[in-house]
Amino acid sequence: MIFANLERLPPDPILGVTAAYRADPEPGKIDLGVGVYRDADGNTPVPGAVREAERAVLAGQTTKTYVGPAGNLEFNERIVELALGPLARELRDRTATIQTVGGCGALRIGAELIHASTPHAVVHVSDPTWANHAPLLGTSGLALEHYPYYDVATRGVAFERMIDHFGRLPPESIVLLHACCHNPTGADLDAEQWQAVADVCAARSLVPFVDLAYQGFGDDLETDVRGLRLLAVRLPQLLLAVSCSKNFGLYRERTGALAIVGEGPAVAAAIASHQTRTARRMYSMPPDHGAAIVAHLLATPSLRAQWQEEVAAMVSRMKSLRELLAARLARRRPDLDFSWVTRHRGMFSLGGIGGEAVAELRARHHVYVPPDGRINIAGVSEANVDRVADGIGAVLG
Ligand code: LMR
Repeated sequence: MIFANLERLPPDPILGVTAAYRADPEPGKIDLGVGVYRDADGNTPVPGAVREAERAVLAGQTTKTYVGPAGNLEFNERIVELALGPLARELRDRTATIQTVGGCGALRIGAELIHASTPHAVVHVSDPTWANHAPLLGTSGLALEHYPYYDVATRGVAFERMIDHFGRLPPESIVLLHACCHNPTGADLDAEQWQAVADVCAARSLVPFVDLAYQGFGDDLETDVRGLRLLAVRLPQLLLAVSCSKNFGLYRERTGALAIVGEGPAVAAAIASHQTRTARRMYSMPPDHGAAIVAHLLATPSLRAQWQEEVAAMVSRMKSLRELLAARLARRRPDLDFSWVTRHRGMFSLGGIGGEAVAELRARHHVYVPPDGRINIAGVSEANVDRVADGIGAVLG
């Protein structure tokens, strides 16, 4: 009985919320759990430009023969260019990119490569961070530690403490940074703070591992990557994990990339060989469909322009939902400050809903959030905002 020793595991902290929500027979239930965008009807749409690109890809496809462990090379180039802008060209000889199985695959392959080359490297992740960061990175064998990030009192970034902490890390420590739309807090660094992060990384020889899962979901496609670009200009080494799940609406297509900038072309070539070998050993090669769609979209100016407008519309909706929710919460609980709801960026906000409050929200109000109390703002709608505000207002201490 080879599996007799396995004990049943508890549900995944985020995906388990979706399962619990689906199992709740209450018609008025509300899902503020998993990080997917939703429109006013509660649907997670495929952007029109993405559908158009998908049609073109299918119409032009004559074979489904293998693509290779690095995936779609045009996608790799264009997705890095979307993230780094003109810098991508400057850094091209020093960059090794591989298409990955979503942003998760990029994080995991990056961790595997760090572990293969420097097994005792420590990855420092923000406190708190996305619930899947530790499992994804830690199972590679790397040690994980936390750096201060979220200030509970201000619901902003504990910046002094973070920088002070970075200033004491040993050289070649890996620091995992969220490029924008910090998951789960919603509290982002401003331009000046990114500059200070670049300075301390340069001074202490720290290696940033940037998780870019929400480009375009904070303010816009350019503003959201200004910190990443500062780091890429300044530092000799950098890892970048990109996800196309949210901004291209390609969630289930598992489309992402890992770009690693090394000190020079020879290092980049060596990294590229290890990237493909790692992929080959784990899953051989990534699925092509999503990457082919993104490559076609980014190469077609009219589709790219349409997609940018669609991303802008999603962001604008999320910002107005933040306004709406903040106003309704303030009406219910005039004793509390809800300015953080509109200050935060992206889909998520962490606003003081603790463990018991999470359970109470679920049991009494049928509002579903992950155990860390993170709210997915995109799950709020004009139709449910009053019930969301009633629930949160009731459970907050
Ligand atoms: C989230 O944070 O909810 C998303 O990134 C989905 C996931 O895989 O956890």
